[in-house]
Amino acid sequence: MLNLTLRQLRVFEAVAKHLSYSRAAEELHLTQPAVSMQIRQLEDVAGLPLFEQLGKKIHLTEAGKEFLHYSNSILQHLSEAETMLAEFKGMSGKLNISVASTASYFTPQLLAEFCQRHTQATVNLSVTNRETLLQRLSNNETDMAIMGRPPDALNVDATPFMENHLIIIAPVNHPLADERNIPLSRLAEETFLVREQGSGTRITMERFFAEKNIHLTTGTEMSTNEAIKQAVQAGMGLGILSLHTVSLELETVRLKVLDVQNFPIQRHWYVVHRKGKRLSNVAQAFKEFLLQEHAA
Ligand code: PGA
Repeated sequence: MLNLTLRQLRVFEAVAKHLSYSRAAEELHLTQPAVSMQIRQLEDVAGLPLFEQLGKKIHLTEAGKEFLHYSNSILQHLSEAETMLAEFKGMSGKLNISVASTASYFTPQLLAEFCQRHTQATVNLSVTNRETLLQRLSNNETDMAIMGRPPDALNVDATPFMENHLIIIAPVNHPLADERNIPLSRLAEETFLVREQGSGTRITMERFFAEKNIHLTTGTEMSTNEAIKQAVQAGMGLGILSLHTVSLELETVRLKVLDVQNFPIQRHWYVVHRKGKRLSNVAQAFKEFLLQEHAA
């Protein structure tokens, strides 16, 4: 392999362009002897002259003309590689994101929109319960998380970016389905299907009713929003879920939202990462995308 340097190629290209050592030196901000020396060294490596002097003018030799073709191509490729790397530094890479199960109802749409804008970004989405989510944040196993309630204990940076309303759902033929302004106390007569321990929805619901001094009768515990929706449709009880999870069922009138006083419970979705975490470019871009495009 030719043992030449990129600097020699750049000097060669400039001399070939101007057919003058002095003008090449000017362009490259070098002295003329420095340019001559680079060319001499290149010719040594090449093993034959690349320029010849005819009178006062210099010309490319036949070998020089052929060599220029390769030299241009090498420098061109290098410049493309530089652009490509700059683009990668800018926005490519993998985004590792973990979301609470309820957030999986809208996160894929957000990611699709983001990936359309940043075609080089790849995403690893993990849907998990709140407990695992906290563990992943604490072990630094995820870039960021989307959750409904930032953790109290962990040292995190949590920013709200979207509203999250908790509603009460009932089967369409439920006696309360068409009532208006149902008092909270009336709910004590109903049975509620609840999410598993550790679910953000469950914690919020329990705190809310404890604050209002209302004792709810809780029925079967279920670990997914889907199971609760199915069970409510089947008449097993009422459910309290995020509005995000039931848009399809409301549209097709398979479930109804009860009009209860103090409802919906107004919450937010937070984008959360460990305090001081150095976010990758793609993770930082996704965070900005959430905050700008879907500002709370
Ligand atoms: P989850 O949702 O109930 O699926 O854990 C998170 C939250 O609402 O805080």
